[in-house]
Amino acid sequence: MRILVAGGAGFIGSNFIRYILGAHDDWHIANVDKLTYAGNLANLSDVADMPRYRFHRADICDAAEVSRIFALEKPEAVVNFAAETHVDRSIDDPALFLRTNILGTQVLLDAARKGGVARYLQISTDEVYGSLGATGKFSEESPLRPNSPYAASKTAADLLVRAYGKTYGLPAFVTRCSNNYGPYQFPEKLIPFFVTLLRGGKAVPVYGDGMNVRDWIHVDDHSRAVEGVLLRGRPGEIYNVGGGNERTNIEITKMLVAAMGKDESSMKFVPDRPGHDRRYAIDDAKIRAELGVVPRVPFEEGLRATVRWYLDNEPWWRAVQSGEYQSFFDRWYVRKDRV
Ligand code: NAD
Ligand code: DAU
Repeated sequence: MRILVAGGAGFIGSNFIRYILGAHDDWHIANVDKLTYAGNLANLSDVADMPRYRFHRADICDAAEVSRIFALEKPEAVVNFAAETHVDRSIDDPALFLRTNILGTQVLLDAARKGGVARYLQISTDEVYGSLGATGKFSEESPLRPNSPYAASKTAADLLVRAYGKTYGLPAFVTRCSNNYGPYQFPEKLIPFFVTLLRGGKAVPVYGDGMNVRDWIHVDDHSRAVEGVLLRGRPGEIYNVGGGNERTNIEITKMLVAAMGKDESSMKFVPDRPGHDRRYAIDDAKIRAELGVVPRVPFEEGLRATVRWYLDNEPWWRAVQSGEYQSFFDRWYVRKDRV
């Protein structure tokens, strides 16, 4: 299969590319990424030279460039991870989220339709469903009630995917996954942010009362779910993906503090995120029953390995903090003339 992956230099996209290249030796991947602050070619340094992998630096909102890349790569499948993804940034600057997450998706959908791709997979999020109270779970039938500009932009994109399926017959799928954790996550998100702060001897900022709940899934389990949908999904369908792993933020924080050999004086409570969703929980019965996709990584084990990874890969996150990572493109691709 020839897959065009959009946003493959970010956290989940890079883990997905590494997983797929390892799992299928006849699959080819073209990675299209703008390399925003969240895109980091160091995430893919171990696969960059593989003949079955190619990188294109491009903005998914640039229709002419996207169309040129489709003509060159002739993908059979498209997986769209590309997005602005951090809720706090969406509160500060919603416009960028609407541009990339909505317009960018529409550009990719158009290119996929014109290119006659056999499968278009939109990577969405459980945040489109809004917030839960103390009980219940999100199913694929739950109402769409996004609460942040980020979530609203992802919801709009999901509806465009639906419209392209209904109007043009594009064989499109949507996956809605819960909070991912694992290696190569940009250290602005809860787990890597807190590990790197604690490593530097700083206190970690817990929003509000710390009782918000997220359903954590290891990024490799997310990759296996996306693979399952690509191979066996039914066009037009939405699949929830979850870890079955609900934890309060304070519980995660205490686990990280303990793993880093610190005590609770390393935690501080700070003012809450505006519009902060209280609880997410995923009902993944559909993807389990239809596609046989089940998360495999036990949370305690996955979290331990993830903390270890950040400790063993300090140069990776130090290069992010210093901004040095943004020169990888010039050093690896422009000079070596690989684009
Ligand atoms: P990320 O922020 O780590 O990576 C996003 C990637 O998209 C980066 O490489 C960035 O350079 C690229 N990108 C951004 N704008 C672009 C543009 N205009 N053109 C081309 N590339 C662009 O994000 P992530 O955490 O890996 O999330 C990937 C996808 O999964 C997103 O669509 C997100 O909504 C979804 N998702 C994330 C989570 C999570 O917990 N992280 C959970 C569910 C769904
Ligand atoms: O649920 C899926 C979503 O998970 C994805 O769609 C998003 O792209 C991804 O960023 C993530 O969103 P969250 O807002 O849940 O993730 P974040 O890591 O920003 O925060 C996790 C929880 O921790 C949330 O309740 C806010 C809280 N938090 C976060 C940070 C960065 C803190 O208490 N302090 C912090 O400094």
